[in-house]
Amino acid sequence: MSSKDGSWIQRIPKSEAENEKDFYLTPLISIFPLLDYMKGAFPRDAKILDFSSGTGNFKKVLGTHFTNITEIDLYMEEPYIDFLTYEPTERFDVILGNPPYKSKFKFIDKARDLCDTVIVLLTAQSESYKIISEKYKDIPDYVGKITCYPKFFMSQEECVDGGVKFGGTTNYTYLIWTKGASFDIKFEIMSDIRKYADVTKELLGGY
Ligand SMILES: C[S@@+](CC[C@H](N)C(=O)[O-])C[C@H]1O[C@@H](n2cnc3c(N)ncnc32)[C@H](O)[C@@H]1O
Repeated sequence: MSSKDGSWIQRIPKSEAENEKDFYLTPLISIFPLLDYMKGAFPRDAKILDFSSGTGNFKKVLGTHFTNITEIDLYMEEPYIDFLTYEPTERFDVILGNPPYKSKFKFIDKARDLCDTVIVLLTAQSESYKIISEKYKDIPDYVGKITCYPKFFMSQEECVDGGVKFGGTTNYTYLIWTKGASFDIKFEIMSDIRKYADVTKELLGGY
């Protein structure tokens, strides 16, 4: 594990094959602010779908409290379901996840077709994040966002060598929609994720 500041948190694997799948590990630490928000917003047995579960990090964190989480992924979770053509036989209370970067808008639109509450983790450099945020801000049922800070530094080289490092330019932000919601309940939570360092280490089994 590299000794660069913050990089003890989690090693992010990256390879040629993973690039093709648009796989990018969601750092465990970035999921705790969502867990805190969701504990207050949904019952423990809410039916939750992670639409691109990868290694299953959302379930690892959210599953410490929530009891009904379904995971699908096109490449990494059998039976290898493509969310973009997915026709679930059940209704979910929440559809969430960290979508593949290249098709994030398609994931958002499809999730919003399938479910009343959609929570999407978007990771982006500052400028492109502004564009994403602008694109969605006027949709009436866009109710909030949870912004993790400090920003991460996560270039590919850093991912291979050092895992997550704070002090960079990558935003980790959740956008939340709930159909039927009105503008006046719009909120923004700013979450200093450094406070989750110990619980993240615990979940990783320490090292
Ligand atoms: C940003 S990663 C999510 C990482 C995951 N949250 C984790 O912590 O491991 C995006 C994931 O989308 C998956 N994926 C790509 N295209 C997909 C599709 N059409 N349907 C479902 N999953 C897809 C990739 O296999 C990858 O695991």
